[in-house]
Amino acid sequence: MTTSPRWLRTAPGRTPRIEYGADYNPEQWPRDVWDDDVRAMRTAGVTIVSLAIFSWGRLEPAEGEYDFGWLDEVMDLLHAGGIAVDLATATASPPPWLTAKHPEILPVDHEGRTIWPGSRQHWRPTSPAFREHALRLVRQMAGRYGDHPALAAWHVSNELGCHNAYDYSDDAAAAFRVWLRRRYGELAALNAAWGTAFWSQHYSDWSQILPPRRAATHPNPTQQLDFTRFSSDALKDYLCAERDVLRELTPDVPVTTNFMIMGRLRPLDYADWAAEVDFVANDHYVQRTSRPFDELSFSANLTGNVAGGRPWFLMEHSTSAVNWQPINVPKKPGELERDSLTHVAHGADAVCFFQWRQSRAGAEKYHSAMVPHAGEDSAVFRRVTELGETLRRLAPVAGAGRTPARAAVLVDWDSAWAAELDSHPTNRLRYQQEALDWYSAFLDLGVRADVVPVRTGLSRYDLVVAPILYVVPEALRRRLEAYVRGGGHLVTTYFSGNVDEHDHLWPGAHPGALRDLLGIRIEEFAPLPDGDQVVLDNGSVGTLWTDMMEVADAGVEVLARYADGSPAVTRKAYTAGSAAYVSTRLGPDGLAPLLGDLLRRAGVESELPPGLRGRVELVVRGDFRFYVNRTDEPVDLTGVPGEALHGSAERLEPRGVGVLRGPA
Ligand code: GLA
Ligand code: GLA
Repeated sequence: MTTSPRWLRTAPGRTPRIEYGADYNPEQWPRDVWDDDVRAMRTAGVTIVSLAIFSWGRLEPAEGEYDFGWLDEVMDLLHAGGIAVDLATATASPPPWLTAKHPEILPVDHEGRTIWPGSRQHWRPTSPAFREHALRLVRQMAGRYGDHPALAAWHVSNELGCHNAYDYSDDAAAAFRVWLRRRYGELAALNAAWGTAFWSQHYSDWSQILPPRRAATHPNPTQQLDFTRFSSDALKDYLCAERDVLRELTPDVPVTTNFMIMGRLRPLDYADWAAEVDFVANDHYVQRTSRPFDELSFSANLTGNVAGGRPWFLMEHSTSAVNWQPINVPKKPGELERDSLTHVAHGADAVCFFQWRQSRAGAEKYHSAMVPHAGEDSAVFRRVTELGETLRRLAPVAGAGRTPARAAVLVDWDSAWAAELDSHPTNRLRYQQEALDWYSAFLDLGVRADVVPVRTGLSRYDLVVAPILYVVPEALRRRLEAYVRGGGHLVTTYFSGNVDEHDHLWPGAHPGALRDLLGIRIEEFAPLPDGDQVVLDNGSVGTLWTDMMEVADAGVEVLARYADGSPAVTRKAYTAGSAAYVSTRLGPDGLAPLLGDLLRRAGVESELPPGLRGRVELVVRGDFRFYVNRTDEPVDLTGVPGEALHGSAERLEPRGVGVLRGPA
C-alpha cells in the first residue's frame, strides 16, 4: 500500500452510513430534468452519484477548449440537495476529435484489425498520445473540482479493460518489450522462460519480440501468459498515472476505480490492483447461469477479500434487466433487495446502480435504472425507494469488517489464465466454474467460506480448497507444504500443480509441484468427451476430466474410485493436516457430500441450525449476521440468536434477507 486505506471524503463528524446511488448522466437530459432528478434522488434516499463518466466529449468539445459550466451547475445542484459526488476523471471514452487527430490511439485486435470509434473505450492503454490528452483532462478536472464540497472521491476512467484489456498494436509491442526486459533482464532468460528452443522461436534481439498476434497455429503459451500479465500491468500502470495526478493536486480526495469481479476472471489481476486504490470498488451484474445467486455471492465474497476484509464500494449493479446478455430478464420481486444486501453482507458499504435515469437514446436505452421509463410511479422505483430506507436502517453496519470464516476457496488469476490456454488436454476446462462449484457446495452445506486471492495468508484457515491451482511456482509449493505440515487441510483438483510460473511442466509424473504433498502419481490425463461421464464407487458422477493416477504413498487413503478400481479422490493424512485431491469434475451436487466429509475430518462445522443449512447463506460482519434466503420459499428463523436490525428475527421471506445483531 502506498497510503493507508481510506473511504469517502465527508464533512467532519458525519455519522457512518451505507451510501446509496447510481451513475448519473445529466448530459443526456435537458436542464429542467436536473432539478427533478435531485428531488427524486432525495425521495429514493440517494446519498451519492457517479458523475461525468462519459463526459469527455461535452467537457472538451474541441482540443484544449473546455466547457465546464454545465458540470459546475450539476455539482452545485447535487451539493445543494445533500448528494455527494464520486466524480469521474471523464477519460473513459475519447471524443471523435481526438481519435480523428490521433488514430494511433485506437486499439488493434490480435488479427491486426483496428477497433474503430463509435462505441466506447477505444483507446490503447499504452498509447503515449492518449495518455497525454487524458492526463491533461485529469489535471483540469482536479484543478476545477478538487475543492468542491460535493466531491467525495475520484473515479478513475471506468471499468478499465472492459473492452480494451488486450491490445496488439505497435504501442503495445513496444511496451511489452519494456515489460519483458524488466521481468527477465537478459534475453537468454526470456528465451529459457518462453522455451524458445521449441519450433525455432529463439530471439536474438528484443526488437524481434511481438505480442501473440494471430499466428499459423498455437502461439507460444508462455508468451501468451506473459502478454496477459503485461496487459493487466499496462492498465494498472494507466490507473496509477491518473491516480498520481490526482494525488498530486488533491491529496485529501480518495481515488478509486470500478473493478469487474463478476463471472469469469478477466485478464485483470485485481488482487494486484487493489493496493493502488484508496478503497476497492466493484461492478457486478447477475448472469443467467445455472446458479446465478451463488455467483453473485462468490464475486461479492472475493471482492471483500481483494479489499483485504475492509469495506468496499459496490459501484454498479442493476435494478432489473440489463441490455447486453442474449436474453435480458427482469429481476423477480425480492431480488433487487437480496442482491444488494448480499453485497452489503460481504462488506459493501455502498450500493449503487447503473444508472439513475434510464436513457431514451443510445445502446443502453433498454437497460434498467433507478428511474425507469415508466417514471416514479412504478414497481422499480418503489423497490428502489424501499431499498433506500433499508440501507438507512443498516447504517450501524457501516465500517464493520468481514469476519473471516474457517474455510477458504483460493482464487489465482495466473492459474485461471494459464489453465485455459489452448493446446491443452481439453479446451472445455473452466477455472471459475470449478471454483464456483466448490463455493456452491459450501453454501449447500451451510458452511461459511472466504473466497480469497492466492497470496492471502492461509494459516488462519482450517481447510483451504484450491481448485485448478495449475500454476505452482516454487514459493507457492513451499507455502502449501508448510500449511499442510502446520496442520492445515488442503484440497485440490484435477489440473493442479502441473507447471511453474513460466508454464513449464514440473519434472517427473504429474502433478509435479504437488505430487509428493498429495502422495499420488499421474502418468496421463484422461479428459472426457462431451456427454461422457464416469460413475464413482460412492455414487457421484464425474464429467470433463479424469486422471490415470496411482497412489504413491502408504499414507494415502482413497476416498472414491473409478469403475476400474483406480483412485479418483485421495487424501493423505499428516500429523495434524491433510492433502486431498479430486481428479474429476463432480459439480456442486457431487462435491457437497465429499466436502462434508473433508470438513468433518478437519473439525469445521456449520454455524447454522440444521434446518437452515443449504437454504440460507450466513455472512458475518462483526456483530451483524446476515441471513440470506437462497430459496423461493419462506424460511423459519426461530431460535436464531440476535435482534433484528432488518427483516424479522422469526422468518425470512422468499429471497429475503434478515440482518440480526448481537452475539452468536
Ligand atoms: C458497465 C459500465 C456501465 C454500463 C453497464 C451496463 O458496467 O460501466 O457504463 O455500460 O456496464 O450494464
Ligand atoms: C504434425 C507436426 C508435428 C507435431 C504434430 C503434433 O504432425 O508435423 O511437428 O506438431 O503435428 O500432432
